[in-house]
Amino acid sequence: MSDRIHAADPGTETTRIAVRGLTKIFGEAHALPGALALAERGTSREEILAQTGCILGLRDVSFDVREGEVLVVMGLSGSGKSTTLRCINRLVEPSAGHVTVDGVEVNGLGEAELLAFRRRKFGMVFQQFALFPHRSILANVGYGLEVQGVGREERESRARAAIEQVGLAGYENARPAQLSGGMQQRAGLARALAVDADILLMDEAFSALDPLIRRDMQRQLVALQDRLHKTIVFVSHDLDEAIALGGRIVLMKDGAIVQGGTALDLLTAPADDYVARFVAHIDVLGVLTVASCMHPAAAIPAGATAGEALARLGVADEGFTVDSHGRPSGRVARERLAAAESGAPAGPLADPPGMVAAADTTLRTALPAVGGQGVTAVVDGDGRLAGALTQSAIIAALAARVRPDS
Ligand SMILES: Nc1ncnc2c1ncn2[C@@H]1O[C@H](COP(=O)(O)OP(=O)(O)O)[C@@H](O)[C@H]1O
Ligand SMILES: [Mg+2]
Repeated sequence: MSDRIHAADPGTETTRIAVRGLTKIFGEAHALPGALALAERGTSREEILAQTGCILGLRDVSFDVREGEVLVVMGLSGSGKSTTLRCINRLVEPSAGHVTVDGVEVNGLGEAELLAFRRRKFGMVFQQFALFPHRSILANVGYGLEVQGVGREERESRARAAIEQVGLAGYENARPAQLSGGMQQRAGLARALAVDADILLMDEAFSALDPLIRRDMQRQLVALQDRLHKTIVFVSHDLDEAIALGGRIVLMKDGAIVQGGTALDLLTAPADDYVARFVAHIDVLGVLTVASCMHPAAAIPAGATAGEALARLGVADEGFTVDSHGRPSGRVARERLAAAESGAPAGPLADPPGMVAAADTTLRTALPAVGGQGVTAVVDGDGRLAGALTQSAIIAALAARVRPDS
C-alpha cells in the first residue's frame, strides 16, 4: 500500500522523516511475539485480539515527510493516527519497523540522546492545550525553553516573539483561563514555536475548537507556514481540515495506510471503495482544480485571418486570440468568424477576453469568474492560455463526484 506514496514522490525534495514498516502491538509482553507474527501474516485486527488479547495499533506503515510540507495523517478514531505520530518521536516504541529523522535512526537512540533529540527537533501541539493554569501565557510559552535550561532573558524574548507570531501579543501576562479556547490553542502553538524546533507534530490540535474558530486556526497555520516553512505532521480525523491545510494526506484505516496523496488524488483516483466513501462528502469545489476540468482551447494568433481562426477552432464554438506571449487577448465566437470574409483579420472580430481563471486554483476560487461566462480562458502561471473551462465541464465534473450515500 505504502508503495503508492513513494511512487508519487518525485524524489527531488528532501525527506525529513522516513517512516518504514511500522507495526505496533499493544498487549501483555508474553503475547506480543505471537501477535506480531499474526500481524505480519495479515491476520485481521479482530482475529489478533481474539487469539492473543493484543490490540493491533499499526500494521506496516510507511511514508515520507518532506522538508517544508504539511503532511496530514487522516483517518477515523482508532485508525492509528496518534500511534503513528508518537512513533515518530518515539513516545511509542514500535514493535517492528523504524523511523529516521534527518538521517538519524530514532529507534537506535539511547534514553538521554532521545530526550535531547526530541527537544531539539520537535515541537508538539495536542488537542488538550495542556497549559499550566497558574502560569502566565509568557511563562507557559517559554516552558519548553525553561526545560532546555535557556536563561530567563533569552527565554522571555523568544517566548514574546512566538506569542507575536501567533497573534497573541498583549496577552503575555494573562492566565490561560482568561483566554478563549482558540487563544489557548494559539498559546500551545506558540509554545511549540518558541523552542524553534522545525518539525511540528500536531495531534488533533484544532479538534476541540468550535468550527468557526477552528477554520480560523487552520487559516492561521497556513499563513504561519508560508512564513516559517516548518515541516509539519498534522493528525486529523476531519477531511475538510486536511483539505484546508492543503498538504498531502496519508489516509489510515485499522492501523494501516489505505492511500496517500493529495485530496485531488483521493477524490479522482480512490485506491478502493473505502477511500471513495471517505471522500464522498468532500468539498468537491474546494478540491477539484481548474486544470482537472478544463479542455483544450483554440489559441488564435494575433495576426490570423478569420479563415485561419475558423480552422483553429475545430469543433469549438469559441476561441481565444493570444498575444505574442501566448496570453489571451480576446475571445471570438464561431458565428462572427464564419460571417466575416475569410481573409479578414480575426483580431478586430474578438471581444475582450473577460475574466480568466488560473489553472492551479480550485473551482471554488474560479467559480465567480466562470459563472457569468459560457467559456472562460484558463491561464498557466505565466498568464498563457492553457485551456478553456465551460460551465458544462464543471457540471459534468461535479456530477461524476456525486455518489449516493452508502
Ligand atoms: N496504550 C495503548 N494501549 C492499548 N491500545 C492502544 C493504546 N494506544 C492506542 N491503542 C489502540 O490502538 C489503536 C490506534 O489508536 P490511536 O493511534 O490512538 O488511534 P487514533 O489516533 O487514530 O484515534 C486503537 O485501537 C487504540 O485503542
Ligand atoms: Mg488520536
